Formats: sequence, C-alpha cells, structure tokens
Amino acid sequence: MIIAVDGPTASGKGTIARALADRFGLPHLDTGLLYRATGRQVFLDGGDPDDPADALAATGFPEALLADPHLRTEETGGLASRVSIHPVVREALFQRQRAFATQPGGAVLDGRDIGTVIAPDAQVKLFVTASVDARADRRWKEMRDRGITVSLEEIAANLRRRDERDMQRKDAPLLAAPDALVIDTSALGREAAIAAAIEAVESVARAQ
Ligand code: DC
Repeated sequence: MIIAVDGPTASGKGTIARALADRFGLPHLDTGLLYRATGRQVFLDGGDPDDPADALAATGFPEALLADPHLRTEETGGLASRVSIHPVVREALFQRQRAFATQPGGAVLDGRDIGTVIAPDAQVKLFVTASVDARADRRWKEMRDRGITVSLEEIAANLRRRDERDMQRKDAPLLAAPDALVIDTSALGREAAIAAAIEAVESVARAQ
C-alpha cells in the first residue's frame, strides 16, 4: 500500500506520516529533506538557488548531508522552497521518490506533490492542513524548545511567503489531489490528528 501525505509546512504532515509508518510497519520518506539538502548544498557551493543550473548541480548532494541538523532551519526551508521551483530539480529528484514509493510492500511518503505527481496511484492520499496561525504557533513552540527565539509574526510571515511560493509555482504546486482526504489539524491535538489518519487508512484497507 502506498500512503501519500501532502500539505504545507508545519501542518503536522510529518508527524502523521511517521505515525502511520509506525502503525502499519511501512518505510517512510520525508521528501522535503531532499529539497532541503539541495537548498543547503547550493548554499555550501556558493551558488544561486534561483538559478536552475546551480540548483540542478546541487541535487547531487552527498548522502551524509541528509543527516545534517542545518536542514531543519528556517533558512534552509526557504532555500528548499526556492530550488523546488525549478522543473529540472523536480525531475532530478523524481526517480528516487518514485522508487521509494513503489518498493515491494508499500511505503509512506510526505511532501507537497506525492498524491498528484510522485504517486498518483497511491491507495491512500491525505492532505494535511491547518491555519497559518495554528502552524505559526506550533513552529514557534518547536523553535523555543530548541532554544531559538524568533517572533511569532516573523514565523507567520515566513510561512505565508513559503505557502505562496509553493502554491503558485507552475510545476507540481502544493495542491490537494482531487481524491485526497483533507485533514485540518488547526483545532486537533496530535493524537486526534493521528487517529483521523489511521482511520482513513483502515477504511481504505477495509474497502479493498
Ligand atoms: O516539507 P518541508 O518544509 O521540509 O519542505 C521544504 C520545501 O521543499 C517546501 O517549501 C517545498 C519543497 N518541497 C517540494 O517542493 N515538494 C515536496 N514533495 C517536498 C518539499
């Protein structure tokens, strides 16, 4: 079974995807990490993230970069969003994601375009979303716990900028697949959001 979990930054999609992978014993790929590693590599190369050739070259990042804590920062998230606009970058990262999705036994992938582009054939498609305020609040708490002080306004502005870029891009924009189940986590706690996702997977399994 392929499970596609898409949604904007800080919607809770990563938490849901990991919980589903655990529950159903499936391997999980956070596809945002591939774009983050590409963005980080452009920076390390001294390249321009808005230049398709520089961004494409950075998709050849070393595997070890995927474990770099720098990938988690807001700066790298912004760079990831910028490199992800280029169709050549998306093409270069496609095969790796597709191979992961189609491995025997199934997989869980989370990102922006899993249900629409990477695995339109996924049996379960979830689109996890939440209001900008709820997402900014979560991100702020996350950063506070990591000892980073940023204002809530700055985080919300950043989220809006990133959403807009991810939704407006021509190639594989952030978009719920027509057959995706939308889970709005604005007013849901972690456990309730996970329970809703598990129920969605089980109802598909029952129908098969
Ligand atoms: O989910 P994230 O915040 O780690 O993603 C970082 C950026 O990577 C996001 O702003 C857009 C891009 N991305 C993408 O274009 N397609 C994906 N499947 C995953 C992420």
